[in-house]
Amino acid sequence: MEFDFESLPPQDRYRLLCSFVAPRPIALVTTTAADGTPNAAPMSFFNVFSQDPPIVILGIQARPDGTEKETMRNIRRSGEFTVNLCDMAIAQQMVDCGIGFADAVDEVALTGLSHAPSLKIAPARVAEAPASLECRTERIIDYPRRAIVLGEVVQMHVRDACLDAAGRYVRPEAYQPVARLHADNYIVSDRQFVLTATETLKAATGS
Ligand SMILES: Cc1cc2nc3c(=O)[nH]c(=O)nc-3n(C[C@H](O)[C@H](O)[C@H](O)COP(=O)(O)O)c2cc1C
Repeated sequence: MEFDFESLPPQDRYRLLCSFVAPRPIALVTTTAADGTPNAAPMSFFNVFSQDPPIVILGIQARPDGTEKETMRNIRRSGEFTVNLCDMAIAQQMVDCGIGFADAVDEVALTGLSHAPSLKIAPARVAEAPASLECRTERIIDYPRRAIVLGEVVQMHVRDACLDAAGRYVRPEAYQPVARLHADNYIVSDRQFVLTATETLKAATGS
């Protein structure tokens, strides 16, 4: 099948892109409202794109009525957000944080998660997350119905068990992130394997 993205309606482009560019990691993004109310929402248009500078990117869609989601409003105002990585232990709470609650709702508390203070920014992180990134907005690219947020990671928290004793290598049996496939389908990283380049081909290049 062929799909001409220059004439395809946006909803069809969304369905195809999300079905095949998958699995996508999930950022449970926390921000703080002007009155101090914490906010949390999952975002799977998310990934890391650079370590120097350390940049993560979020793609935040406008609501169907054209208004901005609370996450985006809070990021625009404060320039700060946290990205909390998600494993099976918090997968249900992560999905529930995506329900369109009113601004006054603290999704972290409502879903039974808890806040842990961040070190460099105001928004609290999610205590139960295996890892969290404190981010400051590096830039925002605005499209009519979508904002692309580039965030610079200024601090990272990792649960001790997820790293080896030296703090260098991830322990795959302890860190098994959940990622989004299509629609309400998800996958957990519990069948990890090691794959290296073919030795004879490497040898042929002298590397
Ligand atoms: C797993 C998952 C991933 C999501 N990814 C995104 C995303 O990348 N961008 C987006 O705009 N909304 C995404 N959503 C929807 C938002 O989480 C949802 O609209 C939420 O209510 C926004 O909350 P807020 O108004 O507090 O920001 C996702 C929802 C789920 C469950």
